[in-house]
Amino acid sequence: MNARSTASKPVLVRLTEADLPCVAALEEASGWPMGGSEAQLAATLADPAMAVYGLMVGDGQAGGDELAAYAAVARLPFEAELQAILVDEARRGQGLARKLLAVVADQARDWGSERLLLEVRAGNAPAIALYRAAGFTDDGVRRGYYPPCPAPQPASLPGQETTPPRQAGAAGAAREDARLMSLTLCAG
Ligand SMILES: CC(C)(COP(=O)(O)OP(=O)(O)OC[C@H]1O[C@@H](n2cnc3c(N)ncnc32)[C@H](O)[C@@H]1OP(=O)(O)O)[C@@H](O)C(=O)NCCC(=O)NCCS
Repeated sequence: MNARSTASKPVLVRLTEADLPCVAALEEASGWPMGGSEAQLAATLADPAMAVYGLMVGDGQAGGDELAAYAAVARLPFEAELQAILVDEARRGQGLARKLLAVVADQARDWGSERLLLEVRAGNAPAIALYRAAGFTDDGVRRGYYPPCPAPQPASLPGQETTPPRQAGAAGAAREDARLMSLTLCAG
């Protein structure tokens, strides 16, 4: 990581392979392996077609900073796709995801992407509210896309269909729909 935070203001950092331990720790603590397995997460961090941003918070003391949130976006030929966005449970409701989403959208604009795409579990109300507030609109539904999710929790993003440990689901439980959403980035 290339910056330090202060107690009051989260600091934006571009994450690299060297940050794998702290991203994995955030996912582990949150129970949301959004980046897939650790190997998949490492590949994401190393992929030149991906941009991964984090928000660091801390007490300003050496070694006191923590990764509070991260988001990953993939560059596609004409569009960009949000692959993951995760905020530490203790830091939710403070605008961190809104900030990261704006950074991701700016990154996609810099790439010249026409739209920012995502998929979200139909039952992931906090994430859907976040995306709507950021201007995303509905593109459709992919029926039964996700494995069952027993807890009132979110969502894998595109390509992350693997059932996370805390989303194993009861045997025979119904799969969950994916909502497809997008944000238009340029007038075209
Ligand atoms: C979804 C998630 C990323 C939101 O992070 P957050 O930092 O708490 O969100 P923010 O504080 O930036 O909220 C921004 C806006 O999103 C909406 N929002 C966020 N959480 C919400 C909630 N629990 N209920 C209703 N709306 C919510 C609100 O519109 C909010 O604006 P407001 O505070 O002015 O009302 C977070 O809950 C999370 O990490 N969840 C687990 C992982 C996940 O589901 N990722 C998305 C997968 S598709």
